[in-house]
Amino acid sequence: MKALIPAAGLGTRFLPATKALPKEMLLVVDRPAIQYVVEEGLASGADEVVIINSRDKKVIEEHFSPAPALVETLRQKEKHAFADAVEYAGNLNVSYVYQDEALGLGHAVRCAHEKTLGEPFFVLLGDVLVPENNMLSRMKEISDAHAGASVIAVLPVAEEEVSRFGVIDGVAIGEDVWKVSRLVEKPAREDAPSNLTVFGRYLLSPRVMELLEGAKPGAGGEIQLTDALDALLQEEEMYALVIKPTDGFDTGTIESWLETNNALYARR
Ligand code: G1P
Repeated sequence: MKALIPAAGLGTRFLPATKALPKEMLLVVDRPAIQYVVEEGLASGADEVVIINSRDKKVIEEHFSPAPALVETLRQKEKHAFADAVEYAGNLNVSYVYQDEALGLGHAVRCAHEKTLGEPFFVLLGDVLVPENNMLSRMKEISDAHAGASVIAVLPVAEEEVSRFGVIDGVAIGEDVWKVSRLVEKPAREDAPSNLTVFGRYLLSPRVMELLEGAKPGAGGEIQLTDALDALLQEEEMYALVIKPTDGFDTGTIESWLETNNALYARR
């Protein structure tokens, strides 16, 4: 099973910091943000992480490439912990596909269709970190309990924030599990069917890749993953794991990035 990480965005909210450095490479305590996400995918049962990159963000690929000369230098200086950390990052099982046009999240995911080949797959959005690496395994349990259905993580947010996210409709079928009946991307506050918002961790049926082929632009003129998931509901069941704010750490804005750095540093 593959874990897909879309990473071709422009990082506009972090300019000018992201003028030459991809936002995925911004430091969170001791490593680039994207390394947490790659580690989470691999810790959750993915055999390979596929980063959906843009061609001008080669520095992401350099980070996950072996650096034997640097490791050798560090070993000679007896800096073994750093040598180990460099070796570790260079040995993570990561591959790349390219999104050449910024046409939306659904389009980004579709760019990896040749990697998933009829299998279920994870999608991990890099703006949120789950350093406990426990969310996808819980989603897999829910999927297994429902004949391999798709499962998405959702976070309850204040009513005035719903229009920034994908939002689900459905019914609670357990303490933290909903059966999803509809999804809508960035609804107006008054049109939002609930306050449960799509958080950025998905376990998806292979049918989603087919539905994304030829998908039409939706909210914001972008090809939305949320729209393909809503279309999937005509054919397949879908469940949502309701998470708590403390289960994930946001790095999508300067404020949340700073808070996440402080919170994760304090936990060391
Ligand atoms: C994307 C998804 C949205 C989800 C959000 C989570 O939106 O389209 O459904 O709620 O991520 O961060 P974006 O933040 O790319 O606009």
